[in-house]
Amino acid sequence: MIQIPRGTQDILPKDTYKWQYIENRLHSIAQNYNYKEIRTPVFESTELFVRGVGGSTDIVNKEMYTFKDKGDRSMTLKPEGTAPVVRSYIENKMQHDVNQPVKVYYQAPMFRYERRQKGRYRQFVQFGIEAIGVEDPLIDVEVLSMLMHIYQSFGLRNLKLHINSIGDQHSRAAYNQALVDHFRPSIHEFCSDCQVRIDTNPMRILDCKKDRDHPLVQNAPVIYDYLNDESKAYFEEVKQNLDALGIPYEVDYNLVRGLDYYTHTAFELMSDAEGFGAITTLCGGGRYNGLLELLDGPSETGIGFALSIERLLLALEAEGIELPEPEGIDLYICTLDQSASTAAGRLVHKLRTEGVSCDMDYKHRKLKAQMKDADRKGAAHTIVIGETELASGEAELKNMATGESEKISLENIAEIRTIIEEK
Ligand code: HAM
Repeated sequence: MIQIPRGTQDILPKDTYKWQYIENRLHSIAQNYNYKEIRTPVFESTELFVRGVGGSTDIVNKEMYTFKDKGDRSMTLKPEGTAPVVRSYIENKMQHDVNQPVKVYYQAPMFRYERRQKGRYRQFVQFGIEAIGVEDPLIDVEVLSMLMHIYQSFGLRNLKLHINSIGDQHSRAAYNQALVDHFRPSIHEFCSDCQVRIDTNPMRILDCKKDRDHPLVQNAPVIYDYLNDESKAYFEEVKQNLDALGIPYEVDYNLVRGLDYYTHTAFELMSDAEGFGAITTLCGGGRYNGLLELLDGPSETGIGFALSIERLLLALEAEGIELPEPEGIDLYICTLDQSASTAAGRLVHKLRTEGVSCDMDYKHRKLKAQMKDADRKGAAHTIVIGETELASGEAELKNMATGESEKISLENIAEIRTIIEEK
């Protein structure tokens, strides 16, 4: 038997309502904040991620689904959405759009060849937003407030927002040098990945899962001490504006994020719900001031976040929050013989085209089993058609909630619809 690839999942019909509910909520919140949807391809040139996300990151080094197409070009299934959005922004010259800043959102499957763990998939759906074309602490706060709004709107309470500033390119370079000086003499005590990171991306040593308890990680230099005055002032303004909106947060100087493009504001939202599992990050994001130029674009800056619906669902489950199940169908037609089935087939056809959601029995079950089926499908009304009903052209339309019945003409679709809509 052929099995589903590891780290992927089927979302079965009994569960899709949860996804649809979440997706609708995300779309409508994005509209409230005036973000418009953007759709980019599922695959992009590999170089986009190597340059954009960073050649020394785990994503690019270990996790990408990369393949050669038939023209011998290296392509990659997108592992994240920011670099593709920035590519599209540059290619479509969105810096000249009349609507500025450019505020977009996306929702799409992403692919990372990661080790399987609860909350970690090889294909997952990210919802993300990007605001490109303005550098102002107020837009950072808009992005953060939208993020909190999303999670709170589902009734989630065990949320912890961690923020940090990575500073501008100068601060970042000074800090990286301080980390190299700090770790270099004892780097042989660290894992093999960190021994590479010291040369390629020293900040990543700070969030290495294997070395997180090493004393040198515990007393590593703190980025805040390396921020220049402008970077500090920017961060202070972000915090003040978060305070003004009453958005609680914790400053976490070790938060460096796993992608290379971040500058200034960086953040992650965690769940501290019991039973959520080891991977507690629900959402991550930050500001990326150099990314557009790095990808040969204009000197515009951006900020955004992305979350996966999979982890949002896990958080809801951990906090015991149920999403509303969809309503059942308007009408189920039971039939007593073959000619009744034929008539019912025509009737459901006409009713469906008039906007009534209905179904019937196709398996020639006994009436009792059909009634059970109607119940399972959440039918608000039923009609039973047999010889008598076919002869008279009339039947009883039963309201399943009240138990009341009304005589209707099987030809009079408008009448049936009106009664059903009155329920
Ligand atoms: P990221 O932190 O790599 O950031 O991913 C963002 C979110 O995607 C995570 O917090 C998590 O919810 C979800 N996620 C990542 N990997 C997996 C996985 N294997 N399985 C399930 N969920 C996962 C980015 O991708 C940036 N592009 C975010 C961003 C947007 N920064 C600025 N704008």
